[in-house]
Amino acid sequence: MRDRLQAELHFPPGFLWGTATAAHQVEGGNRNNWSAWEALGGGRIFGDHVSGRACEWWDGRAEEDFARAASLHNNALRLSVEWSRIEPEPGRWDTAALERYRAMLDDLHARGLEPMVTLHHFTNPLWLEERGAWLDEETPRLFARFAAKVAEALGERVTLWCTINEPMVYAAQSYLIGHWPPAHRSLDETFRVAAQLVRGHAAAYRAIKAVRPAAQIGFAKHQMTVAPGTPLIGHLGAGLIHYLFNEAIFGPFNGRRLNFLVRSVSIPEARGTLDWIGLQYYAAQHIYLSRSPGARLPRLEMRAPEGRPRGPRDWGELAPEQILPRLKHLYRLVRQPIYVTEAGVPDPDDSLRPAYLARTLRAVWQACMHNYPVRGFFFWSLVDNFEWAEGYDPRYRFGLYGVDFQTQERTERRSARLYRAVCAANALTAAIVREHAPEAFDVIFPTPQPVE
Ligand code: GAL
Repeated sequence: MRDRLQAELHFPPGFLWGTATAAHQVEGGNRNNWSAWEALGGGRIFGDHVSGRACEWWDGRAEEDFARAASLHNNALRLSVEWSRIEPEPGRWDTAALERYRAMLDDLHARGLEPMVTLHHFTNPLWLEERGAWLDEETPRLFARFAAKVAEALGERVTLWCTINEPMVYAAQSYLIGHWPPAHRSLDETFRVAAQLVRGHAAAYRAIKAVRPAAQIGFAKHQMTVAPGTPLIGHLGAGLIHYLFNEAIFGPFNGRRLNFLVRSVSIPEARGTLDWIGLQYYAAQHIYLSRSPGARLPRLEMRAPEGRPRGPRDWGELAPEQILPRLKHLYRLVRQPIYVTEAGVPDPDDSLRPAYLARTLRAVWQACMHNYPVRGFFFWSLVDNFEWAEGYDPRYRFGLYGVDFQTQERTERRSARLYRAVCAANALTAAIVREHAPEAFDVIFPTPQPVE
């Protein structure tokens, strides 16, 4: 045990340590496609919750939470700007909103936190939603115009830009599965939206570079571990989902077509528009062929195998070490520096999060040690927040700090203390794990086995 207690897993110098947040989930008082959807009720969102005041970032609490991030010895923070605030009507720019974001960015810098700014994190202005959102042909151009405006107004304070958060999740949830607005269920529309998001990214990349040549621009891609549950069909299903969800979108960035098997399209302007890529990893999904009672046909189902640690509902298996193969795979697809732009776990009582975080970080460290260019890590999330269709369902608490949404009171969780110690040391050490996540100690620092 004494030797194991000396172990120190050091991260590269200059590694960025932060947390990730998104405007609609924390700001409060937004008017966009999501707030309109929330207002409809009817079970669209857990408990018919509305985002409401969220974490009150817009009205001043952002700075209080930035102070918390700084207390964690973070040197970066990922946040998003809300398109509907900055451009409330097409072509009309709200200078007061830009001023508020400027103040937030100044506050981050004053606290030694390098901002990473996301331009699209699932929400659309209502005027855009009404004209068909990303199905509309003009949207990539309108998005690039918005990106240029933000880069002009805020670009002195921002180097790291994330154009779009999880394009495949947005396309699938909103146009295939239909859980998110506008709740369509169409394979054709899903494909068209994914293609438009690629065009939007490419147009925004060029628009930002024209204004701020030194900007470093990428997007954030959710990558799932997809494994077969049942033999044969499970294998085929897993291979298919892995390709469609994890790989297809990168075709145009490598000079190939965006190929969704049943349809493909060429988007040549996407080539060369990634300075970095963001990895978002949460869970492993296993693919089963299953038949629900009364159904005539079996269907593919994603879930965690029995007996494995799992998240709520269809969250999947909690498999933190799987971030390592996801990092390696993403690097093979993109060959650019990687930021982990999100990783986290829904865990209201913080019983899983410290070990989950420590095990995740060990895997990220392994990637760094194997010379994968991982430049930073943004944990999801700094504070509990509004979790989209899950609303404020108490099972979906992700924060290093808990939030009481009645009183806005924050409570520091054990995982925050773990993260603070890691970020201060730029290392995951045995002493830190022993103190803050002892339940993960033997997994992270296993007893050396004698050589036979
Ligand atoms: C991501 C998303 C975040 C957050 C997180 C936790 O897919 O980008 O906004 O909701 O999942 O579920």
